[in-house]
Amino acid sequence: MNQFYEEEILGKAYDSRIMKRLLKYAKPYFRYLLFALLLIIIITILKLINPYIIKTAIDKNINPFEVIKVENKEIRVYYIEDNLAKTLLKKYPSLIKSLNGKYYISLEDIQKIDIKDRLSLRWKNILNLQKAALLYLLIIFMIFFLTYIQVYVLNLTSQKIIYDLRKELFQHILKLPMRIFDRNPVGRLVTRVTNDTETLQQMYNSVITSLVVDIFLLTGLSIVMLTLNWKLAIICLISLPIVGYISFLFKKYAREAYRAFRIRLARLNAYLAEHISGMRVTQLFAREKENEKEFREINNLLLQATLRNVFVNAIFRPIVSALGSFVSAFLIFFGGLQIMGNQISLGTLFLFISYLGSFFQPIQDLAEKYDIMQDAMASAERIFLLLDEPEHITETPKITVLKDIKGKIEFKNVWFAYDNEWVLKDLSFTIEPGEKVAFVGHTGAGKTSIINLLTRFYDIQKGEILIDDINIKEIDPKELRKHIGIVLQDVHLFATNILQNIRLNRDDIPEEKVIEAAKLVNADKFIRELPQGYYTPVQERGATLSSGQRQLIAFARALVFDPKILILDEATANIDTETEKLIQDAIEKLIKGRTSIIIAHRLSTIKNVDTIYVMHKGKIVEKGSHQELIKKKGLYYHLYKLQSLNYANI
Ligand SMILES: Nc1ncnc2c1ncn2[C@@H]1O[C@H](COP(=O)(O)OP(=O)(O)O)[C@@H](O)[C@H]1O
Ligand SMILES: [Mg+2]
Repeated sequence: MNQFYEEEILGKAYDSRIMKRLLKYAKPYFRYLLFALLLIIIITILKLINPYIIKTAIDKNINPFEVIKVENKEIRVYYIEDNLAKTLLKKYPSLIKSLNGKYYISLEDIQKIDIKDRLSLRWKNILNLQKAALLYLLIIFMIFFLTYIQVYVLNLTSQKIIYDLRKELFQHILKLPMRIFDRNPVGRLVTRVTNDTETLQQMYNSVITSLVVDIFLLTGLSIVMLTLNWKLAIICLISLPIVGYISFLFKKYAREAYRAFRIRLARLNAYLAEHISGMRVTQLFAREKENEKEFREINNLLLQATLRNVFVNAIFRPIVSALGSFVSAFLIFFGGLQIMGNQISLGTLFLFISYLGSFFQPIQDLAEKYDIMQDAMASAERIFLLLDEPEHITETPKITVLKDIKGKIEFKNVWFAYDNEWVLKDLSFTIEPGEKVAFVGHTGAGKTSIINLLTRFYDIQKGEILIDDINIKEIDPKELRKHIGIVLQDVHLFATNILQNIRLNRDDIPEEKVIEAAKLVNADKFIRELPQGYYTPVQERGATLSSGQRQLIAFARALVFDPKILILDEATANIDTETEKLIQDAIEKLIKGRTSIIIAHRLSTIKNVDTIYVMHKGKIVEKGSHQELIKKKGLYYHLYKLQSLNYANI
């Protein structure tokens, strides 16, 4: 049997088989994903346009000087429109010159003209700058708005996918056979539904879409850079794998530190949960010192992991984000040289430096995405493993509606084992409709197992179990269980009020019926004395109720569903003498008119049943009424004598 992998076992970052299955969950939301993707692409383009606006502003309007050669000297000049040039020429005849029919003024000479004329000279530049600034703002605003929509849509999609998955998981867990719960700690199953799905959400959110965008971005940028200036582009392209590799290493290290931190935090949580719920035992056996020591160790491990995490974050993250700066430094140097050599404009260098960030970001994120994928694959594998666990009923049962039954129960040569060892060996007996029987025997004899089989929590290996002469394998377990009421020794109460705990949220059962049942089993009186009566909330599994009171609630629960077959498994085992009379009375009312099976530790409570089966090591060794069995002086007689002696001693 699968144990549902331990947490934190990681494998491949990509598994096409798992990915295919994961994409299936995304399929209903494919349009949303596509829409989000489209938005991301638009946003990316807008983000790339903005530096270009600045570049243009720099080259065309802030620094629009061109280099020309006059008398073997290179000078920077500003070209002037003809109309303006003619007016200015009158005022500054020595400063405005012309070359090939175009008027110009040199950069140095601009300083020599009036501030007013300087303004009119550059008025067009100023207007253009204004436009550029407004356009820049507009694009920023669009980016802001589109990003909002994109983040919303993408999260909506991924959350919906995860919602579906959680729903499917819980629906599946509800139908799993009991042996799964025997072998898997509750915490592990809870993790499947919560943490593991969360990891997947991350994947849907960040990886699937960004992968496409990253490729798109890297190619686009490479082309733009290469066409602008191939020398500077080469510097960026060559550094790309180097920066990528270094950040991959660093981020890997950071992620490992984080993972260690998470594992240790989980361990601390588990320890706390276990020991806080077991506080009674701890205090009773004065284990505080030992627990303190254990906790100190776990706490210390967590501290170390946290500190390492902090260290990594403080050192490596800045390093990774600074890596791009090395390349910026190169760019400033070589780009500066090229500006001096008039090979590129100032705006182009600005563009390269601004694009560098966008260029490296996807590469720097790669490690993170790799880890998310790795986590997601592991989580998905664990989730699918659980989902693939066959549900209790794989074949469709022949009988899907079981109306009224008489309540005859028959075991025919039943063999059963939980694992390898036979727990029930060739067991046969018949209980007639309305008959009251008891099963007695040492602990571990197999009494509870009989009930587990009758309710089909487990299936038998050999033999037949019949109810009203129908093999229970042919009956839908849900239908079957409708007719069987069970009261166990441990009463599980849910975190809701008493009323709902009795009718188990079946709102079609009227309150009056619940009260009627509670009255019959003598529970009504104490319930009414509670602060809010039937609406009193049950706290922490009913810790504030006595075990007798909990037992009475369980009786009411069994009665309200009016089952034809009633089973009490050690239901009277831990009850105070005060409640015992109430319970004894309740039992008598309960079993009236029903086929009843009572498993009792205290033999005095079953004297009046029709037949007593005495079990020993998975077999029935004696059968008969109390009187008959006493006369027989067999195992029952011994058990009875032992108990009478014990009680006499008390
Ligand atoms: N869920 C289980 N998984 C494996 N073994 C079990 C399980 N429940 C009970 N057993 C084993 O089956 C045997 C019979 O148990 P059970 O029917 O509970 O006995 P009883 O109710 O008579 O005390 C015991 O040896 C017990 O260890
Ligand atoms: Mg038992």
